Order: sequence, then structure tokens, then C-alpha cells
Amino acid sequence: MEGIVYCIVLLMVATISVSGETIKSVSFIFGDSLSDIGNNNYFSKALAKANYPWYGIDYGNGMPTGRFSNGRTISDIVAEKLGLPVPAAYMSPSTNEDVALKQGVNYASGGGGILNETGWLFIQRLSLSRQIELFEGTKFMLTKKIGEERTEKFLRDSVYLIAIGSNDYINNYLLPVAADAWKYSPDDFSDYLISTLRHQMTVLHSLGVRKLLFFGLGPLGCIPLQRMQTQDGGCQDNLNQWAVKFNSGTSKLINDLNSKLPGARFRFGDGLAFFTKLIQNPQQYGFNNSDTPCCTIGNYRPTLSCLAAASLCSDRSKYVFWDEYHPTDAANVVIAENLMPTLSFGHENTTTPASAPAPASLPSPAPSASPSPS
Ligand SMILES: *[C@@H]1O[C@H](CO)[C@@H](O)[C@H](O)[C@H]1NC(C)=O
Ligand SMILES: *[C@@H]1O[C@H](CO)[C@@H](O)[C@H](O)[C@H]1NC(C)=O
Ligand SMILES: *[C@@H]1O[C@H](CO)[C@@H](O)[C@H](O)[C@H]1NC(C)=O
Repeated sequence: MEGIVYCIVLLMVATISVSGETIKSVSFIFGDSLSDIGNNNYFSKALAKANYPWYGIDYGNGMPTGRFSNGRTISDIVAEKLGLPVPAAYMSPSTNEDVALKQGVNYASGGGGILNETGWLFIQRLSLSRQIELFEGTKFMLTKKIGEERTEKFLRDSVYLIAIGSNDYINNYLLPVAADAWKYSPDDFSDYLISTLRHQMTVLHSLGVRKLLFFGLGPLGCIPLQRMQTQDGGCQDNLNQWAVKFNSGTSKLINDLNSKLPGARFRFGDGLAFFTKLIQNPQQYGFNNSDTPCCTIGNYRPTLSCLAAASLCSDRSKYVFWDEYHPTDAANVVIAENLMPTLSFGHENTTTPASAPAPASLPSPAPSASPSPS
């Protein structure tokens, strides 16, 4: 079934000529399971996959797509609202330079984090550094196809979304066996993440990225997975505080990069305050449940329990959470709508900005901490 869909996409794309004027801006997506649209399905050993029912029940024909939701991801919805095509999954065999030019590319991978070691429990996933390397490869292929000048313009005009960081806490720092938790206080860990991000965003800028939106963390302590671990089912306030701290540090980082990197129009999308209001007062936004997953076989943790044997809530549009970690399509819509005003990149500056100071190279300057067996 999937094969047929890919073939059709390929045929459609093959008929589109890539002559100078037809190249429009697209979006490129980096991130974790909140934005993965099927990349992990191509990893034989990845444990974080959403390729079974009831994932995708409200998307297209209702078959699983690899999205960790009943329907669309936030990035899908943002791309739609910006009038941009939904980018193609990087790992899909049909994603080539023509597809990248037409639709953009999504490199997001469930279980991935800012840090390379994050998500090692899931065996296979793409870290943010790896996703940036793959983007560099895409740029190389595009340059061969349409030349350097047009590639630079195409990349400069495109929109970049990054939503990542939750796994660095949930599937790294908070794990009982995580070496990072023994090395860093919560504040130092946040600084470590932000210094790694500074390097990663500088690399992206050196590759030609200008219009970038970074989505901050949501209220991590209120996701059903974390609530199940408290006596009374309440939120874990310390975790929410860490998210606040990470967000304010990232917001400062982005202001700083905008002042230092020529032509950078980086934005910080803070959904935390809104998401918290949505959880505290779901009725106000048309929801009826914000503390338990719609799809679950019960209070099992720490893995996803939205399995084929799970029972579904009666009205998926009334639940904020689809599974233990991820919002429903309906919640993604209201969160994306709330973030849209952040997505104004201002007017296009047609004067080609001076090129980046020194082309940064990928190896992260952060201290290497790698308990990863993968
Ligand atoms: C919310 O759910 C409860 C049961 O869980 C139900 O009794 C109530 O009618 C629902 N309210 C709305 C507005 O859907
Ligand atoms: C456009 O960018 C150039 C180079 O960075 C800068 O000198 C100029 O002031 C910018 N113009 C506007 C309108 O922002
Ligand atoms: C992280 O992984 C990338 C390759 O994806 C590598 O280039 C980089 O050196 C690694 N960083 C650390 C701190 O190990």
C-alpha cells in the first residue's frame, strides 16, 4: 500500500520541470516524535515507531503513517497554515532532489534529541546533529542539480521548523540509568543543551538557513506518562520548571544569534503557557479531558500503551492527549493556531546578506557524555 503511494508521488513529481521560476519556498522540519512523519519506519531496529493501529486513524485513509498521533503533527498543521506543502520524509526511498525542491524535507525522528546520546534506549533514531548532517547532504544534492546560486536562494527563502528537547529530559536526563543525570544539575543540564543548540543553529545558518522557528518545550510534567508516576495523578512541577528554564534560555539564545548571525531571522515559538492553560482548562477550548490518553491499554508504563489491543476514547476530538506523550490532532490544531503569530519572519531582505562568519563544522563543542550502546 505504502509502495503504491510512493510510486504515485514519484510519477507526479517526475512531470514537474524544475525551471528557474517554478521553485517556490518550502519547509524543512527537524525534530523528534512530535514531528516524525514516518522516518523511523525505515529503521529496522528502531523501537520508537508509530506504524501500527491506532496511530493515524484520523489521517487520510486511517492507516498508520508513522505520525505519533491520531492525525496530523503540529508541523503538518503549521505547513498547511503557511500554505506550504507537507514536506517529504527524508528516509522515504522516493525522496530525492526533485521532491525536496517541490515539497521540502522532514528529517524528524521519534526518540531523537539535541544530544547524540538521547534516546539510546530506542536503539535507532536520528539525533539533531545527524539530521543537520543529512540536511547538508540534501544541500549538496540540490547544488549538483540546480547550481549553487539557486540552491542558496532556495534555502534562504525556505522556512525551517525545529521542535526537539523533550527526549533530552524524558529519555535521557530522567532515566534512572542516565549518566547525564549524574554529571549535571538541572540548571547545568539546561545550559549543556543550550550550548549544543547554539552550535547546531550556527551550523544551520552557515548552511544558508535564515527563517527558522524553534518550538520550545511544553509542560513536560503534565503529560500522562509523568502524571502516572505521581501519587495523585497531578503534574510534576519540577519538570515543568525545567521546561520553563530551557525555554527562557533558548529564547535568549535565539535573540543573541539574531544579533550576531547576518540575515538570521530566527524565532522562538513558546507554546508552554498556552499548553498549560489548555491542560488546566480544557473545556474553555472545547476539550473534555487533558490528563489521560485517548488510546491506552491502561496504566502501563514506561512504554507507549496505545497498541492494537488498546481501547479508544469515545470522542477523539475532546482529548488533549492521544497517547502517554503525544497530543491529539485536535490539540495540535489549537496549539499550532496559538503559535502562528510567532511565525512572522518580517519582510524579505532582497539584499544578499554577508555570508556567515566562519563556516562552523558539525562536531559539537559540548562535553562528550555517551553512555549510548547504539
Ligand atoms: C465529558 O465527559 C464526561 C464523562 O467523562 C461526560 O459525562 C460529559 O458529558 C462530557 N462533557 C462534554 C462537554 O463532552
Ligand atoms: C538587508 O540586509 C543588508 C545586509 O545584511 C543590510 O545592510 C540592510 O540594512 C538590510 N535591509 C533591511 C531593509 O533590513
Ligand atoms: C554527535 O554526532 C555527530 C554525527 O551525527 C558528530 O559529528 C558529533 O561529533 C557528535 N557530537 C558529540 C558531542 O559526540
